[in-house]
Amino acid sequence: MSRELYDRAVAISERAYAPYSKYLVGAAVQTRDGKIFEGVNVENAAYPLGVCAEKSALVKAVSEGYRPGDIAAIGITASPCGGCRQWLYEFGIDEVTFLSSRGELVTYSAADLLPETWDLPA
Ligand code: THU
Repeated sequence: MSRELYDRAVAISERAYAPYSKYLVGAAVQTRDGKIFEGVNVENAAYPLGVCAEKSALVKAVSEGYRPGDIAAIGITASPCGGCRQWLYEFGIDEVTFLSSRGELVTYSAADLLPETWDLPA
């Protein structure tokens, strides 16, 4: 379990743009070659257009050349929403660390967070 990634997520959450929910979320992804990309939630006056912290961190990694299979772990300050679980699954992330609703730091694989996941038929 990555306490370090979770701590990075907490630190970056200050930069979240969440004027509507006022719920600041941070995420920090670690690539297999050791780089860290941080992200925050970015809301919009048209509410459904907002972006979650996990997605903004993963988008940064992808725009720097990383692909599914290249991401080892992510720390998040919130339990990932359903849509983000699908994103985490897409990237095959083995260690997803976040604060559970019981207030404990927990780590699961993306596959465990979304059993029997929908995927494109082969
Ligand atoms: N949020 C995230 O950034 N990640 C999640 O997995 C859960 C929800 C954000 C979206 C919105 O800006 C705010 O938290 C309240 O739902």
